[in-house]
Amino acid sequence: MCYFRERAFTEPFPVKNKSNLPSRSGTSAIPLLKTAGREEAELLEKLDSQRLPNHIAAIMDGNGRWAQKRHLPRVAGHRAGVKAAREIIETCARLHIPCLTLYAFSQENWRRPQAEVDFLMRLLREYLKRELPAIHKNNIRLLVIGRSEDLPEAVRADIADAMRVTAANTGMKLVVALNYGGRAELADAFNALLDRARSNGMQDFRADEQAISEHLYTAGLPDPDLLIRTSGEMRVSNFLLWQIAYAEIYVTETLWPDFSRARLLEALVDFQKRERRYGGLGSPHADAAGGDRAAGDERTKSHSAGRNSRG
Ligand code: FPP
Repeated sequence: MCYFRERAFTEPFPVKNKSNLPSRSGTSAIPLLKTAGREEAELLEKLDSQRLPNHIAAIMDGNGRWAQKRHLPRVAGHRAGVKAAREIIETCARLHIPCLTLYAFSQENWRRPQAEVDFLMRLLREYLKRELPAIHKNNIRLLVIGRSEDLPEAVRADIADAMRVTAANTGMKLVVALNYGGRAELADAFNALLDRARSNGMQDFRADEQAISEHLYTAGLPDPDLLIRTSGEMRVSNFLLWQIAYAEIYVTETLWPDFSRARLLEALVDFQKRERRYGGLGSPHADAAGGDRAAGDERTKSHSAGRNSRG
């Protein structure tokens, strides 16, 4: 079944029993498409649409445990994980989050049994085949980060096709990390920089933060503001090591297949309660730069422009 039917996400999002909800004048309620139940509607009421993250990154963990709890094979957990991923992609697109990165397969995941690796690769191809029309229709641009040259040929071909089809889309960027490792990404960036310096005969070349950012797989994307990890593990697992320098980290005990739209909205409500200081002082001590919010805005702008600055 295609959860994510071929339709645009631009229609308003009717809320069940909206009249029973407390009214919160002054906050911008966020319209979504599918009818929200009471819990989702209440969470939406708490969200400020002006302060959503520019980039959410998610470590989708716990598929195996989800299956184990139900006495199912691990692969059933991965299937359920794809369903959760669809719901999160759709929700982020409807919320107009500019960028969502999902950690689908790490470099370390090759150590799993071959049958599980093969299943994950098949699942990804199945996902692309089934969902690409809806992704495209909703103006989502698909990007893949990681050492894709080491992926099976058929997977590479499907990825290349999906990236080509969606290349001109201007809506949310959906970044899938596949055969991804943060340290490998840094090594690749440094080598690309060194190659460029050598070929330009730059004897006195020195790297700076901007040059490194511009050679990462994520060049041109904002750094994640929010890193979500499901299933309770307190690790970053070699994910976006450079880019998460100032990300707010949200760890939930919820296993990935249970990470529903409501759980994402909960993470966003939590994110909006955080005070982002970027090494400066908090709002009570707002400094000449105009407080931490101004510093945060400046940081976001400078990262999109490829510069790094500490607010
Ligand atoms: C970790 O669970 C999850 C993965 C290895 C990634 C699989 C992700 C999906 C199937 C979602 C697909 C995403 C897209 C973009 C379609 P685990 O197996 O490590 O769980 P465990 O820690 O409980 O064993």
